[in-house]
Amino acid sequence: MFLDKDKNILNSLERENIESHFHCRDGFCGACRCALTKGTVEYSQFPLAFIGDNEILTCCSYPTSNIEITID
Ligand code: FES
Repeated sequence: MFLDKDKNILNSLERENIESHFHCRDGFCGACRCALTKGTVEYSQFPLAFIGDNEILTCCSYPTSNIEITID
């Protein structure tokens, strides 16, 4: 499946002027890690940064349903 990189969750947050942490924007650093409280996402490629249960990396994930996230 083709995923448009402009439509990852981090870019969506930025378009809505929602402040969130990030650094590498490529799944390496983990700075964009946040809690996924509802819904599902998929990744354009498997991220290298650690993610725990119910956590996502916004820079490289794409919603596959309506989602709710908690940003620290
Ligand atoms: S910004 Fe580095 S993993 Fe997302």
